[in-house]
Amino acid sequence: MSAQIINGKVIAEELLLSLKAQIDTRIAQGKRAPCLAVILIGEDPASAIYVRNKRLACDKVGITSLAYNLPDTTTEAELFTLINKLNTDDTVDGILVQSPLPAQIDEKLIIEGISPDKDVDGFHPYNIGRLAVRQPTLRSCTPFGIIKMLEATKIELLGLDAVVVGVSNHVGRPMALELLLAGCTVTCCHRHTKDLAANVARADIVVSAAGKAGLIKGEWIKPGAVVIDIGINRLADGSLSGDVEFAIAKAHAGWITPVPGGVGPMTVATLMENTLLAQTLRESSIS
Ligand code: GUN
Repeated sequence: MSAQIINGKVIAEELLLSLKAQIDTRIAQGKRAPCLAVILIGEDPASAIYVRNKRLACDKVGITSLAYNLPDTTTEAELFTLINKLNTDDTVDGILVQSPLPAQIDEKLIIEGISPDKDVDGFHPYNIGRLAVRQPTLRSCTPFGIIKMLEATKIELLGLDAVVVGVSNHVGRPMALELLLAGCTVTCCHRHTKDLAANVARADIVVSAAGKAGLIKGEWIKPGAVVIDIGINRLADGSLSGDVEFAIAKAHAGWITPVPGGVGPMTVATLMENTLLAQTLRESSIS
């Protein structure tokens, strides 16, 4: 068996086209373009690339992007001042603070400082809570994007055994909540899990967000399973690798995502969707 590739690039392009059409229609109706404020602090090269991709996606779909490039000496108080200004600016629909942040800034406080209705990353405890109680609003971009990728396979998710490897606040935990919402039986694996191999081996869906190249051995994959690899790990030779041993896993799985070109483009496309949604939700709460 050789798995079918879930091509995140293609699915993301389709989503971006659909968002552009929706935004064009709204602008033709005399409405304002959605607006996303993107805050980048410091010079981390990976963050700079992610932020550039987000700003390019804004341009592509017709979202206005406001760029705030701050020095890595920025204090927490200075960042709060900017966030408070953006929170109360009615022409701003989404606020994104690219992580990681410099050591002097507490990321948890910053996330909670963003107004939940402008939290287009879907990281605020309010938005995570909405997802937990089956009333999702602004959903964490990577997990939401993965649900769209799973839907693209047309596989019925209800009742499937899903295993999520990695339990970070931004990815693993909301991923588990998304799969639960989709009707899967969900197991969360982490560094204290006793037998990762046995858990992965009985999964119909494996989502790995551990950030460790080669952690998920290809031969663990159940025949026909769906394998979603969120890991983006830089190897010694400079190349990128996911968490999953791709070539061997591909021989076992029914569906698999590549790295790169899998989950990454979906995260950006879903951020664009969240920005449009944030605008429309705020419109309806103001009117
Ligand atoms: N750093 C790496 N990925 C992300 C993301 O999706 N959002 C933010 N805000 N920071 C990130």
